[in-house]
Amino acid sequence: MDTNHLHLLLLLLFPLNFVSQCHAEYHSIGKEKVTNLHFFYQETLKGDHPSAIVVATAKDNIVNNSSNQLSPFGTVLVIDDPLTEGPDPNSKVVGRAQGLAVSAGQEKLLFVFAMDFGFTSGEFNGSSLSVLSRNTVLETERELAVVGGQGKFRMARGFAKLRTHYSNYTSGVIIVEYTVTVFHYEFVV
Ligand SMILES: *[C@@H]1O[C@H](CO)[C@@H](O)[C@H](O)[C@H]1NC(C)=O
Ligand SMILES: *[C@@H]1O[C@H](CO)[C@@H](O)[C@H](O)[C@H]1NC(C)=O
Ligand SMILES: *[C@@H]1O[C@H](CO)[C@@H](O)[C@H](O)[C@H]1NC(C)=O
Ligand SMILES: *[C@@H]1O[C@H](CO)[C@@H](O)[C@H](O)[C@H]1NC(C)=O
Repeated sequence: MDTNHLHLLLLLLFPLNFVSQCHAEYHSIGKEKVTNLHFFYQETLKGDHPSAIVVATAKDNIVNNSSNQLSPFGTVLVIDDPLTEGPDPNSKVVGRAQGLAVSAGQEKLLFVFAMDFGFTSGEFNGSSLSVLSRNTVLETERELAVVGGQGKFRMARGFAKLRTHYSNYTSGVIIVEYTVTVFHYEFVV
């Protein structure tokens, strides 16, 4: 074996040896991608088939804030809302937002969202984004943090810009426009 071959052999063997000692594997995680998504979040709080339901509230004598009668501090909602292509509730459904919203503001109405945004059509069918973030619902424009994801959105992180498109507290209908920017990797494990 000449010196060149010996060098090559050492280069090949050393990392393998290192890997076996550490019980870990090293490989490229692939290219980072940036994806933009746009959809509408359709929530129905009232009627026969609400998509968001209150599952827990705090005792009245503990929380009594007239400025926040709808979802007082301490209210927990379970949500399964359709996500549509357009603002019209009858437009094509492209996914669902499923999870929890916790009314967590003592001084002003805000929710903490712990939600999965799962997509059911197009390139990201079967993939989902995880959101864990404060949602200041009374502000027309606001932001949510995207902290992870599944499928094509593994290791995703990013943000969603939210704009209330329509809200009617009499009918309990809320439509929110989402513009999402996520960084994620295209890799197969
Ligand atoms: C809570 O508010 C309601 C009406 O706004 C009032 O009738 C009730 O007495 C209040 N309760 C407490 C504990 O302050
Ligand atoms: C209700 O909220 C206001 C601010 O919106 C706050 O000043 C007030 O102390 C709150 N009342 C209670 C009983 O928590
Ligand atoms: C999305 O994926 C599911 C499961 O693989 C499949 O049944 C469905 O037809 C797909 N929908 C679209 C619109 O591609
Ligand atoms: C809000 O909903 C109520 C009940 O469905 C309806 O009568 C009213 O016209 C709606 N208001 C707006 C501004 O859409």
